[in-house]
Amino acid sequence: MGTGAEQDDRSRSGTVVARAPGRVNLIGEHTDTTFGRCLPIAIDRAVVVTYTPDESSVEVVLTSDTETSPAAVPLAAADPASLQPEWARYVAAVVRQVGPRHGGAGQVTSTLPAGVGLSSSAALEVACALALGADPDDPVALARLCQAAEHAARGVPTGLLDQLASITGIAGHAVLLDCRSLSFRPVPMPADDELEIVVVPGAARSLEHSGYADRLADLHRAEAEIGPLRDSSLADVDGIGDPLVRRRARHVVGENARVLDLADRLAAGDLEAAGTIVRASHRSLRDDYECSLPVIDDLCALLDRTPGVLGSRILGAGWGGAVLALTRPGALTGERAPHVAGVVWPVRPSAGAAVLDV
Ligand code: GLA
Repeated sequence: MGTGAEQDDRSRSGTVVARAPGRVNLIGEHTDTTFGRCLPIAIDRAVVVTYTPDESSVEVVLTSDTETSPAAVPLAAADPASLQPEWARYVAAVVRQVGPRHGGAGQVTSTLPAGVGLSSSAALEVACALALGADPDDPVALARLCQAAEHAARGVPTGLLDQLASITGIAGHAVLLDCRSLSFRPVPMPADDELEIVVVPGAARSLEHSGYADRLADLHRAEAEIGPLRDSSLADVDGIGDPLVRRRARHVVGENARVLDLADRLAAGDLEAAGTIVRASHRSLRDDYECSLPVIDDLCALLDRTPGVLGSRILGAGWGGAVLALTRPGALTGERAPHVAGVVWPVRPSAGAAVLDV
């Protein structure tokens, strides 16, 4: 993070505008928490925080274009998880992590819908952290800071995927994240006239009331038996005694392999094979990790039968949220596209979070 001196310099310089995008994880779901691999893109929908520090203030006050009540966070706020309105919890948790010397005021604007699995909370955390003076040049430290804020605000033991994806995004590329070494490698994506990435909203969800933590406990049981899943093979997984724990582990080990496969297929422009891998990921999330819902499974089946759709799967943590579809351009968004779902959002691989020049 920035040193105290750096933070003071930034405070003196006046208004800061920080932008952090949401993410679409192309593959590698529920692999980050056991130090596996993921392949996200940062998307062209983002949270922007415009913030002006004020040396005479002892609270951070943000208004939002998508929330009715402002977040007013005293610098000495106690437990972020008890604040109202709910979105203030994320702001408070970031304030606590960054530790600015003064308060200030600002606005949040967002083109990122909340609650559909596009990581709007991570984008809010990253944009707030940068606006409050966190160091933009250390992506891993920034991601860890925002992950700690997420844990304090929400109380769910999530991994680093969402924050790293928002921070490390590169236009025109996916990013192959290694959640053990915390290194990342750009993977060139096919051109817009070859592949379209479409998000189809499915069902409302709340991570707090999901099986996220229970599933992670299952993975830890598997690791107690066979060692790190990151280093395990499917043959190792077959030796796990409890059939339920075995299925959870099979998802993760298979998914880590699919991440490398999909990165290779996309870089090679082999889109039919890419679609097949995405569909395999959905089956694994549905049957082995059991984090899908029937309504999402039906939506994926419908999408997979639609001409021009290469493959679809549940996106993000699951238990609702949205579906990711890899498609030929226009298959779901063109004027003549069949009406298979309500609104659909095409997204593009975009640059990661940044402090903007004002
Ligand atoms: C949520 C979590 C991430 C990751 C995904 C599932 O988005 O915040 O850390 O575990 O679910 O891949």
